[in-house]
Amino acid sequence: MANDPLAALVAAVQASPKYRSVSVDLIQRIGADELAKRRSLKEAIKATKDTLHQIGGAFLDQKMPYDAWLAKLRDAAERGDLRAACWEIIAHHASTRERLPFLADFYAAVFADLPPVASVLDLACGLHPLAAPWMPLTPDAIYHACDIYGDMMTFLGAFLPLAGLRGTATTCDVTQTIPAQQVDLAFLLKAIPSLEQSDKTVGRRLLESVQARHVVVSFPGQSLGGRHKGMPAHYEAHFQELIAGHEWHIRRHAFPTELVFVLDKG
Ligand SMILES: C[S@@+](CC[C@H](N)C(=O)[O-])C[C@H]1O[C@@H](n2cnc3c(N)ncnc32)[C@H](O)[C@@H]1O
Repeated sequence: MANDPLAALVAAVQASPKYRSVSVDLIQRIGADELAKRRSLKEAIKATKDTLHQIGGAFLDQKMPYDAWLAKLRDAAERGDLRAACWEIIAHHASTRERLPFLADFYAAVFADLPPVASVLDLACGLHPLAAPWMPLTPDAIYHACDIYGDMMTFLGAFLPLAGLRGTATTCDVTQTIPAQQVDLAFLLKAIPSLEQSDKTVGRRLLESVQARHVVVSFPGQSLGGRHKGMPAHYEAHFQELIAGHEWHIRRHAFPTELVFVLDKG
């Protein structure tokens, strides 16, 4: 182990409960970059943890009681009142939570003018699949979701049938592997800034490669601390760079904390 620095780094990162369930592929990729840049294994471990915090951990509560939440969702589904339980749990992901004040308006705007949506791919999803009960999907819809946390994906995989959905929730690093499912609609919500922290090319690659007729891409309208700092204008310009050279039809929606583009890739 000692003469394999990458294996030692992965083991050290996984020893922390906060990162135990993070995709190993992602830890390895960030860890390898940091080992190449830093003077010691210790520095590379710290830098890897810092990056993992910025791209994912910062959005989560200290404790995410997935088993208790699943029990709550099962009860709620039996009572036919899934929305209230989903709403409460969504509030535990700092990014997904920001959408709660305008959740119904968000899907009304995004799905307006779209043909019926029978399949969804939710990339870097966080707890966003829990908003499925507000989405006007077809009754037999399929929902595929992915993010870097194995425990979160196990939880979301168990939630999908409670919401009447077929589908999968898988642990992934979308900077290395772009899910190959062909779907009517892909969500890439507020994820590009997180993803680009460890891979500058990923935004454009994802938009070009995702196998979806429509892609809903969004950017944060403010920082996690609530500051605006010209973010909408900055991300609007960045989005234009990402789609430069493509003739995609685009609809734009501005919400209080989120700038949304609905792409029709034709
Ligand atoms: C700002 S949050 C957005 C969450 C969700 N899409 C939403 O808007 O409600 C960014 C998400 O990207 C995920 N993420 C970061 N890097 C990733 C990667 N390489 N592959 C997949 N997901 C990633 C994080 O875990 C986090 O859930």
